[in-house]
Amino acid sequence: EALWLVVPAAGQGRRMGAQRPKQYLALAGQPVMAHTLSRLHQAFPAARLCLCLDPDDTLFDPAWVPFAHWQRVAGGAERADSVAHALAALSGQAGDEEMVLVHDVARPCVTVNDLVRLYEALSNDAVGGLLAAPVADTMKRDDGAGRVAATESRQGLWHAMTPQGFRYGLLRRALAAARQQGLVVTDEASAVEALGLQPRLVAGRRDNLKITHPEDLALAARILAAQHAEGPG
Ligand code: CTP
Ligand code: MG
Repeated sequence: EALWLVVPAAGQGRRMGAQRPKQYLALAGQPVMAHTLSRLHQAFPAARLCLCLDPDDTLFDPAWVPFAHWQRVAGGAERADSVAHALAALSGQAGDEEMVLVHDVARPCVTVNDLVRLYEALSNDAVGGLLAAPVADTMKRDDGAGRVAATESRQGLWHAMTPQGFRYGLLRRALAAARQQGLVVTDEASAVEALGLQPRLVAGRRDNLKITHPEDLALAARILAAQHAEGPG
């Protein structure tokens, strides 16, 4: 049974404000994308990769792809559209019961250990799930005018991370239904939740940072260095 990896990498990185999309910025001597694909390949060397790229992209280099079986697809306007394009491209290749792990290219610090733990946690799960970390900060809700309206209990709140893993057939159905209903989904899990299902939360490391803002690049470099010092796993 094949394992499919979908890596949305068609974003523009507007919040980074750099001269190129963040997946092409240098991190510890390599583009962010090369790190991310390398971690995925270390965890799942036999997986098949579908990489979503901006059709106007001129910066991508296939030398960064360590997988033997891979394809590129054109990204869409939003992340969910890029993932939907990938799933459409896998039609006729992926079986309905085969697992698809979707992982943001902007999360190069995900560990091989967490990737394998997630996959094992989901391998016998009918619904699927995601890497997540419990919220540590006290959470405030604003009143719309810069003042606190309420303090929300952080009890039971998690940060959703990636990868998020679901069976191909279910994920395709969930994203199609979300689109049809005009739901804005920022991750795969929320599309599956909208079907009334409950994805599994798999506790992952907090340092699975999504590079988003300019200061995150230096932070990611420190995380990679610290992980390297920890040794393999
Ligand atoms: N992504 C994508 N297609 C889009 C938008 C985003 O494939 N139309 C990807 C990004 O490349 C990234 C992931 O989805 O790997 C998460 O998105 P985000 O962190 O928001 O990245 P960007 O959209 O590039 O950043 P920004 O929102 O700041 O412009
Ligand atoms: Mg974005």
